[in-house]
Amino acid sequence: MTDGTGWMRRGIDDSVAAPVDLRVDVPHSARMYDFWLGGKTNFPPDRALGEAFEEAIPSIKVMARENRRFLGRAVRHLAGEAGVRQFLDIGTGIPTEGNTHEVAQAVAADSRVVYVDNDPIVLAHARALMDSTGSGRTAYIHADLLEPEKILTDPVLLRTLDLDRPVGLTLVAVLMLIADEDDPWARARVLMDALAPGSYVAITHPGWDFDPAAMAAVVEAAGKGQMTLVPRTREQVARFFGDWELLEPGVVPVMGWRPDGEPPADPTAAYYWSGVARKR
Ligand SMILES: C[S@@+](CC[C@H](N)C(=O)[O-])C[C@H]1O[C@@H](n2cnc3c(N)ncnc32)[C@H](O)[C@@H]1O
Repeated sequence: MTDGTGWMRRGIDDSVAAPVDLRVDVPHSARMYDFWLGGKTNFPPDRALGEAFEEAIPSIKVMARENRRFLGRAVRHLAGEAGVRQFLDIGTGIPTEGNTHEVAQAVAADSRVVYVDNDPIVLAHARALMDSTGSGRTAYIHADLLEPEKILTDPVLLRTLDLDRPVGLTLVAVLMLIADEDDPWARARVLMDALAPGSYVAITHPGWDFDPAAMAAVVEAAGKGQMTLVPRTREQVARFFGDWELLEPGVVPVMGWRPDGEPPADPTAAYYWSGVARKR
């Protein structure tokens, strides 16, 4: 999809052919996250800010991996025990190990996944998210969480998901990239209100409460890199779930949410809050 000049065409399942600048001169959260996960889709500004974060939080790479593991555990639970067959993954990130459709379709081959991200580099790699197995389907929408109504009415979404049936919405490590003044709670609420009873939402969010000094240093570094980053308290994160019924064990440090195998010695070692809730 790239034309060799760093410009690229929107594509996958939509017909808009506007050129998009990848802006490899400024750090992007998707590419920083890719850097922490050991990926290769990142550029010097992403690595520089990624390293600045790592100076403040030496365990940042472990945190990224633990966040990713949560996504796997949550999706496995939803596709398995909870019987969910449709997923809406917003803030998808650059494809890596254990993408939502791979996890869901390994449990239930007919799972359908719609991915949404606003970063052109994720769009550039979105074909890697299109390798559905069996009777399942995946689709990708280049869109912004700040415009949830557009996501919900996108023809690609409407062709892929049946909103009259339960959906597993994942907002994993994305809400912290939306400033308070842009009201991420209201944006999430629009999405959640549109989903059928029996739907689920899975959320992770960096927490202030684990190490406020380290978080303050990271927020300062992000500001210098012109990136919005808002760690939030457990109470602020819990508000995202609204009146949906929280699954056990509630809003907890990400390593403590239904760990595979032995519980971790220190579940607070990764500074993310996490939870999964069900619409009544
Ligand atoms: C830290 S990555 C998380 C990736 C994946 N959800 C995970 O947890 O492994 C955050 C992703 O959210 C995307 N993102 C940031 N702000 C967004 C917005 N307003 N709308 C849609 N996607 C957004 C970024 O481009 C990036 O790919």
